[in-house]
Amino acid sequence: MDTVTPVLRDPSLYRYKGYSFLKKLMQKEFIDSLQDFKIRDDDVFMVTFPKSGTIWMQQILSLICSEGHRNGTEQIDTTERVPWIDIPLMKKDVNDDHDSRPSPRLFISHLSYIFVPQGLRNKKAKVIYVMRNPKDVMKSLYHFEAIAVHTQKSPDFAHLFEKFLAGDVLAGSWFDHVRGWYTHKDDFNILFVKYEDMIKDLRSVVKQISTFLGKELDDESLDIVVKRATFNKMQNDPLANKENLSVDFLNLQNGKFMRKGTIGDWKNIFTVAQSEAFDKIFLEKMGDLPINFTWDIAEEK
Ligand code: A3P
Repeated sequence: MDTVTPVLRDPSLYRYKGYSFLKKLMQKEFIDSLQDFKIRDDDVFMVTFPKSGTIWMQQILSLICSEGHRNGTEQIDTTERVPWIDIPLMKKDVNDDHDSRPSPRLFISHLSYIFVPQGLRNKKAKVIYVMRNPKDVMKSLYHFEAIAVHTQKSPDFAHLFEKFLAGDVLAGSWFDHVRGWYTHKDDFNILFVKYEDMIKDLRSVVKQISTFLGKELDDESLDIVVKRATFNKMQNDPLANKENLSVDFLNLQNGKFMRKGTIGDWKNIFTVAQSEAFDKIFLEKMGDLPINFTWDIAEEK
């Protein structure tokens, strides 16, 4: 379990402690060093399984916590304001990398609960975990593979389907990721947020997050956050849009990062047999947890 093993269906990944890491960007030694990262009480970590709304929450956190982002007086990219903890920055030492940043520091991560800094278990620093229904995660991932430079593209959706179930995708098994964080929620000061709830009522979710962060916003500021975090606004926001990321990460000639941003797009790619097979597995693996997803936009209201 603690040894490094290959990931069968994607040679650009390696498996370590049940998680699938990018060979190019995530070294095991660096990941292990995160355990000792010095947490500040007002740090905020946002965690997702890939394709669950990471950059969306990155934009929301940035807007809530930074007046300069809200009122447009500061032109700082959200990836700089809310950087990854999973990937080394310039100094290659996680403490040095983030030491000079002013509090409250915001971070994003795709890591499972076992890899995050031990200090988060002091339950003072905060974690926001965003989850999305896994069928839409798979659909989103299928399109993302076409533009992702560091992972291997599936030849067709059937292949991606198998890969996803086997955990042979970045971050490993979706089931283990969500279950791990959810069943260890009492170890952390954590708020769970669902992508679908953000689609259905973004204002309420933004309000919930700002309350959790102890950053109550007046109505006008709340309106600005909600407006600037909509799909259409983010698509055209140079500070929030991944289309501005370097060609080292994304090949945007093959697709868009801000793709559809909806609930239920999985219906346009899953066969009936795949959907039924997935439902069965979902029930087996997640049925005991009180987590209810919205699978179709028509289910709401
Ligand atoms: P789709 O591919 O289904 O469109 P991540 O940031 O974790 O990689 O997730 C990317 C997904 O979040 C993409 O989903 C993207 O369109 C969606 N997304 C990003 N910003 C969004 C927003 N403001 N509203 C709705 N969906 C958003």
